[in-house]
Amino acid sequence: MGLRGDYSRAGADFRVEQDWGAYAPEEHALYRRLFERQSKLVPRYACPEWIEAIAGLDAAQEIPRFDLISKKLRTRTGWEIVPVPGLIPDEAFFTHLANRRFPVTVWLRKPEEFDYIVEPDVFHDFFGHVPLLFDRTYADHLHEYGKGGLKAMRLDAVKLLARLYWFTIEFGLMNTPQGVRAYGAGLLSSGGELAYCVEDARPRRLPFDLERVMCTEYQIDRYQETYFVIDSFEQLMRETAPDFTPIYARLRSSLVS
Ligand code: PHE
Ligand code: FE
Repeated sequence: MGLRGDYSRAGADFRVEQDWGAYAPEEHALYRRLFERQSKLVPRYACPEWIEAIAGLDAAQEIPRFDLISKKLRTRTGWEIVPVPGLIPDEAFFTHLANRRFPVTVWLRKPEEFDYIVEPDVFHDFFGHVPLLFDRTYADHLHEYGKGGLKAMRLDAVKLLARLYWFTIEFGLMNTPQGVRAYGAGLLSSGGELAYCVEDARPRRLPFDLERVMCTEYQIDRYQETYFVIDSFEQLMRETAPDFTPIYARLRSSLVS
């Protein structure tokens, strides 16, 4: 796949050392600029749960130390973050989630990728994903997702389940009293798509529908054409609680893919 991280030092579960002291001052400065740019957008476009959580993280000045963040997280929702070299195989990823460990990439993008990056880096993983791990319902949902991922592997249905992750955890929208807001990490960490997903007239914004999500293909290298909107993390939790086994079977027999 041509991933850019250094996988040579990774353990069997793909864990590496964060080696915080090895970040260059320019990297902390770039992280700070990314953080500042997004911080101007989130009051208008992010869901309230995310906004509340980031305030307690003190993560604006430099690339955060994962061990300190994990300490806070463990006491709040029992999650911790695990440093990894980048994207990791499905089984390792699902296993981490199923044990309330969220893998976070250690490296930061290059300055020329300020506006857009396809591969997740520490800014996307941290800024986009980690704050919501402080929300109890979201945190519990992601734990269930991890267990569901291991099950989907046994049922040869990872492709269907991955679409759920994509249209919720990465690119999900939520109805709030202030209007539609983003909770997906790919949106929260994006300079352009965060406003686009909420305000632009072009994309479809459909009410969350599990089976429709599982039947919807996505592109990883451009703004989404379709978003799915939940009413709350409780709704997401509730609608993903049923056993997916019969759903997988049905969708697989009705889809040509
Ligand atoms: N209910 C799903 C199953 O039976 C597991 C799951 C829960 C998947 C939450 C995703 C999110 O496979
Ligand atoms: Fe992500």
